[in-house]
Amino acid sequence: MKLAATIAAAAVSASAATSNPLHNTKLNIPTITIAPTVEMPLQGLGTWEYNDTVAEAAVTAALDMGYTHIDTALGYDNQEGIARALKATSRPRDSYFITSKIPGGQNHSAATASLDLALEQLGLDYVDLMLTHFPATWEGEGGKEMRLQTWAALEDFVRAGKARAIGVSHYCIQHIKDILEVNTIPVAINQVQYHVGMGTAVPNATDGIEWDWAHGITYESFSPLCGPCDGSDHWELINGTLVTSIGAKYNKTGCVSQHSDDDDDE
Ligand SMILES: NC(=O)c1ccc[n+]([C@@H]2O[C@H](COP(=O)([O-])OP(=O)(O)OC[C@H]3O[C@@H](n4cnc5c(N)ncnc54)[C@H](OP(=O)(O)O)[C@@H]3O)[C@@H](O)[C@H]2O)c1
Repeated sequence: MKLAATIAAAAVSASAATSNPLHNTKLNIPTITIAPTVEMPLQGLGTWEYNDTVAEAAVTAALDMGYTHIDTALGYDNQEGIARALKATSRPRDSYFITSKIPGGQNHSAATASLDLALEQLGLDYVDLMLTHFPATWEGEGGKEMRLQTWAALEDFVRAGKARAIGVSHYCIQHIKDILEVNTIPVAINQVQYHVGMGTAVPNATDGIEWDWAHGITYESFSPLCGPCDGSDHWELINGTLVTSIGAKYNKTGCVSQHSDDDDDE
C-alpha cells in the first residue's frame, strides 16, 4: 500500500536512512519516496484555518519539536506567518519539507503567477512539493483545458528549480487521466480527505485510491481527524467505538491510534 498523510495515518515504504537530514530530528518521522530523489515525511503539521500569527507560532513550535513537514496553501492566507517562522529557525532547509498549493481552474499565466506568489510569500527558493488544490475553481469552473494549463505551469515550475515534486489534490480518476495524457513529470501525490471510518464525510472522498497506487501516485491523507466533520461525526474519530477499539490494541487513546505510523492496514 502506498499511503501517506499530511497529519498522520498508516504508512508503509518508510525509509530510515540516518544520513537523510529529514531523519536527524528528535521525532525521526519516517519518509516515503514520492518522486525520484524526493522523500516526503509521513506526518506533518497542517495549517488550514490558521492565520499568519497562529501559523507562525505553530510552525515555530513544530520545528522546535522536530517536525519535518509543513502543509500550507496560497488559499490558506498564512504563508507570510510561516515564512517568519522559517526565517527564524536555525534548522537547515533540507531538514524540513514544505508543501504548498495553488488554486485550480487557472490558465497557464494565472497559475504561473500563483506559483511565484506562493514562493515569494514563503520566502523560499523552492518548495518540496507543490499541488494544484482542486480540479477546477472552488466554484467548479475551468474543466480539462484549465487542468492541463495548470499542470503545464507546474511542470515549468519544476524545470525552473522552484519545486522538487508536483501533484494534485481532490482529484478523482478522470481528472488524473486528463493529466496523464500530457504529463512529462510524474504526478507525485494526490492529497485527498481520508481517515478512519470514511463515509461520514463527502461520499466520493476515497475515489481512486487503489487506481492511484496502481499508477505510482502516492495517496496522501488530509483531515485524518475529519476536521471538516461536525458534531458527533468529528467526535467519532476522537473517542468513538472504532478508534477506541483500535487504540486499545496498541495501548493508545482512539485519537492517537490514528497517528500511528505502524506498517499496519488498520
Ligand atoms: N488539500 C486540501 O484541500 C485540504 C483540505 C483540508 C485539510 N488539508 C490539510 O490537512 C491538514 C489537516 O486537516 P484538518 O485541519 O482538517 O485536521 P484534522 O486533524 O482532521 O482535524 C483538526 C480538528 O481536530 C481537532 N482535534 C485535534 N486533536 C484533537 C483531540 N485530541 N481532541 C479533540 N479534538 C482534536 C482540532 O481541534 P483544535 O482546533 O481545538 O485543535 C481541529 O478542530 C490541514 O491543516 C491542511 O494542511 C488539506
